[in-house]
Amino acid sequence: MTQHARLFSPLDLGPLTLRNRIVMPPMVTCMEPAGDQAVEWYRARARGGAGLIIREATPIRRLADPDFAEGLRRTVEAVHAEGAAIAIQIFERGHDAEGEAIWVSERPGAREATEAELREVIELYARAAAECRRVGFDGVEPHGAHGFFLNQFFSPKHNRRTDAFGGAPERRAAMGLQVTRAVRAAVDDDCLLLYRHTPVGEGYGAEESRTFARELEAAGVNVLDVSPSSGSSELPRAHWAEEMKAAVNIPVIAVGGFDDPDAAEHVLETGRADLVAIGRGLIADADLPNKVRDGRRDEVMACILCNEKCYGNLTRGEPIGCTQNPASGCEFQVAG
Ligand SMILES: Cc1cc2nc3c(=O)[nH]c(=O)nc-3n(C[C@H](O)[C@H](O)[C@H](O)COP(=O)(O)O)c2cc1C
Repeated sequence: MTQHARLFSPLDLGPLTLRNRIVMPPMVTCMEPAGDQAVEWYRARARGGAGLIIREATPIRRLADPDFAEGLRRTVEAVHAEGAAIAIQIFERGHDAEGEAIWVSERPGAREATEAELREVIELYARAAAECRRVGFDGVEPHGAHGFFLNQFFSPKHNRRTDAFGGAPERRAAMGLQVTRAVRAAVDDDCLLLYRHTPVGEGYGAEESRTFARELEAAGVNVLDVSPSSGSSELPRAHWAEEMKAAVNIPVIAVGGFDDPDAAEHVLETGRADLVAIGRGLIADADLPNKVRDGRRDEVMACILCNEKCYGNLTRGEPIGCTQNPASGCEFQVAG
């Protein structure tokens, strides 16, 4: 019997049941999306025991192309074959149709997006979500965190708009909510809708985020992915999930530092979150969940938070790996 009973208990999400509470959060791999390297990367993390895998941030403009979306089907099938569920994070890079940089408000290197462009972005989110569903993803997650496009609207520091998408808190929430509603309408009821939000950001705090969380739930979000910015507090970061969970009735994912299974068990046991994300821990060791479940914790190749081949490679545009595990990122060579 594992000493991490809650961590390995299933979670009934209605249309689907997760086999445990471990979520692999979205992490950009810099791998060719439809290539063997990416397929085997995700397959290995599903085989290693994660309950829900959220595929890395993937641009809505690319996903709206059925051929591109079709290329992700193999990943979906590989993950399902290993018994895990798979969602995908969908996001807007902040570029118009010609590739010119757009942003919530003008800033160095980018101009303010027009209202018509924002309507197009909302529509693209909906189309992208429908394509993801068509190729078999169990869920979709608009990326509303970490200062990226949707999150910028929420921040009064970055959002200086005077139209329907800027100003009072409810107007700054409008972009995220309209995207959420459009995505919900574009997919069937059985499709899981997650939303990733940073609870405290530039110019806004937890109270505003709690109101937003309630509105996201009302707009049809099934799971709230609470991702604090990396500098916001000590690891693990259960506190932020707890703050948001108090506001909603949907399951909440706690993010940041939960590769320590005791910390993960504790946050679940104390009711502060329903799911835990293990990001870098699963880069270091795809088999972490199964090893912990089977009482082989001493065999886990642990993340040392050096960030060298995960964030570092991301910065360099190279496929990610891990200084602690030379096999990480090379799963396709073994499989091939
Ligand atoms: C290489 C790398 C890429 C990431 N890419 C994304 C991403 O695409 N979308 C996102 O919301 N967060 C991204 N993140 C953040 C993770 O999802 C997660 O929130 C963060 O790593 C904290 O969890 P951890 O302490 O378990 O690693 C990335 C993190 C890493 C290390």
